[in-house]
Amino acid sequence: MAEQKKSPLKKMSKFYLTTPIYYVNSEPHIGHAYTNIISDCTARYQRLKGNQVFFLTGTDEHGEKIKKAAEAQQQEVKVFIDNKAEIFRKLWEKLNISNDFFIRTTDDFHKQVVQVVVSKLIEKGDIYKAKYKGFYCTPCEGFWTPVQVKEAGGCPDCKREVQLIEEDNYFFKLSKYQDWLVSHLKNNPGFAQPKSRYNEVSAFLEKNKLEDLCISRPKKRLSWGVAFPGDDQYVIYVWFDALINYISGAGYSIDQEKFSRLWPAEIHFMAKDILRHHAIFWPIMLKALDLELPKVVFAHGWWKFEGEKMSKSRGNIVNPFDVIETLAISLSGSKEMAVDALRYFLLREVPIGSDGTFSWPALFNRTNSDLANDLGNLVYRTLNMAEKYFEGKVKPSKSSLPFEFKQSLGNLEARYSELMDSCAFSVALEEVFGFIRAMNKFIEDSKPWTLWKEKKVEELENFLYYLLEGIRISALYLSAAMPNAAKSIYSQLGLTQGEFSLASAKWGTQKEFKIKKEKPLFPRIDAD
Ligand code: ME8
Ligand code: MG
Repeated sequence: MAEQKKSPLKKMSKFYLTTPIYYVNSEPHIGHAYTNIISDCTARYQRLKGNQVFFLTGTDEHGEKIKKAAEAQQQEVKVFIDNKAEIFRKLWEKLNISNDFFIRTTDDFHKQVVQVVVSKLIEKGDIYKAKYKGFYCTPCEGFWTPVQVKEAGGCPDCKREVQLIEEDNYFFKLSKYQDWLVSHLKNNPGFAQPKSRYNEVSAFLEKNKLEDLCISRPKKRLSWGVAFPGDDQYVIYVWFDALINYISGAGYSIDQEKFSRLWPAEIHFMAKDILRHHAIFWPIMLKALDLELPKVVFAHGWWKFEGEKMSKSRGNIVNPFDVIETLAISLSGSKEMAVDALRYFLLREVPIGSDGTFSWPALFNRTNSDLANDLGNLVYRTLNMAEKYFEGKVKPSKSSLPFEFKQSLGNLEARYSELMDSCAFSVALEEVFGFIRAMNKFIEDSKPWTLWKEKKVEELENFLYYLLEGIRISALYLSAAMPNAAKSIYSQLGLTQGEFSLASAKWGTQKEFKIKKEKPLFPRIDAD
């Protein structure tokens, strides 16, 4: 993980992050949930650091494939998109996604900003009209040249059939900015992450001459889009419209104070399918507008199911609402813990950047081993001892930290922060769970119940204080990934400071614990 060393995410006081805005042609699946969960984990971590976070997500509602999807259901487009957008919004609510705003590209303010941007670029001479002849892939909403289609035997991205299109259109001068983009990438090796994606973009720009981007659609063929300013025969290409959400959602040309406070974004999250749009089209659009570039464009891997990329248009999807329902049944009916178990599984199971495979046994195993056996067990048995031996009241230890504890605690704070700053969620969680497992081992090795039998009450209280502090600090770190579980742990520890903050992660700062034990956080799931 060489790219961790120089993380551009460190030491900022405002933090603006985004997810892609998802097409509403059908319903969200685990892949969309994943992007929003890693984004939420980042947002919560940044809040833990005390940063002012603005977290944007939303839906992409124009374009041919949305219109076709509505028609296939024999619904008015507006009815269809309202319904689908609501399902996305509900899912984020259910998954505890703490976005500050939900943008829809059919929002009036957004459409206005798109028109402002196009008008500015026309004025600047970066948009011109010309004849377009080439191929179009509707599922990807992307243009391809005859050479690209011939080489790939279809759409170069999804391999599906493409349509030949010949018509007058408006073009954005991507080509004019290629050299500038190449040098921006050279000077900012952290711009596209992980490193493999950076290399991919750089290699693409080295090997290919960028063609200007066709950014309009004749209305007679497709009317479902933002009206093209100054030419009512056209609407704006859906990708051009969509990317602009990152600035319209931050107030561009509407609320100058807000925009100058928020822009540039610290990070745009997405999967690798749309890296090129974000690492090539988008920076060029911003440059043409004389705006600063986002600090990082981060493209994670794909979740697969039944051997292939999970995809709405392929239909091999796992529905996150169903996963939560099913998990909740196994977890004594607790939807909150089911949500956290799913969030944890997705964050922990796959190193960021790699592809992952969703499977029910993997989900159940991960929940049992880490959440029931390690975390749940540690919390339950420690709190149980605190109640049994000290009526739930445990005071700070007078003796110093035992050697075993010191060793496993190590420099967890620094490691956790470094890993989270570089979006290495899986490794960061593994570090915290390493500490949790060490605490369980500490209990097994030192058998505190024998201290009670030997009437070594002070030693026992010290011992429990160490464990409770360890649990408190672990919960704090885990709160970015599992906010519900962390909240429950805090309340069981008798902590009311509400807001989590990394400033309170210092060892030994808790004055007293007043335990209110509840039932185990994550009961074991029987895998039959
Ligand atoms: O591309 N694994 O929308 P989209 C992981 N509207 N992540 C996945 C995934 C999978 N199998 N499938 C989807 C669009 N995603 C445009 C974006 S942004 C200005 C416009 C996630 O609905 C992942 O974040 O096809 C991916 O990049 C995104 O959904 C694509 O969503
Ligand atoms: Mg897609």
